[in-house]
Amino acid sequence: MNIQIINGPNLNLLGVREKSIYGETNFDSYLDELRKRYANITINYYQSNVEGEIINKLHEVGFSCDGIVLNAGAYTHTSVAIGDAIAGIKTPVIEVHISNVYKREEFRHKSLLAANCKGVIAGFGLDSYRLAIESLL
Ligand code: DQA
Repeated sequence: MNIQIINGPNLNLLGVREKSIYGETNFDSYLDELRKRYANITINYYQSNVEGEIINKLHEVGFSCDGIVLNAGAYTHTSVAIGDAIAGIKTPVIEVHISNVYKREEFRHKSLLAANCKGVIAGFGLDSYRLAIESLL
């Protein structure tokens, strides 16, 4: 089984950025843990701060891998284009958020991606990614 994790803008700063919201762990260490825990599956990782690059990655893997775990960061709330990309591919996409976006500012309550995703997981810290993988297994 092949799973692709895609992180969007500012998620390269996990462990540095707004620690009270996003925690102290950087994504690379968390990814090591995930890969150890799910040693029988291939977990590929991609991060970009650029909307078009996230779309290109969705197109690249979205007809071949078994599942995509996508944290599109702030693009979740603004990107018609990422929503359309998800609608256009075959692989199921799980939208994830580290924080509980529904407890935060109102503009974070709206997702332009969720309607095209298999499901949404938010608010469990980095564990949101593990829960998304579990849902794909
Ligand atoms: C986020 C929530 C978004 O609203 C925010 O813009 C992010 C991270 C999360 O994982 O909690 O960058 O997607």
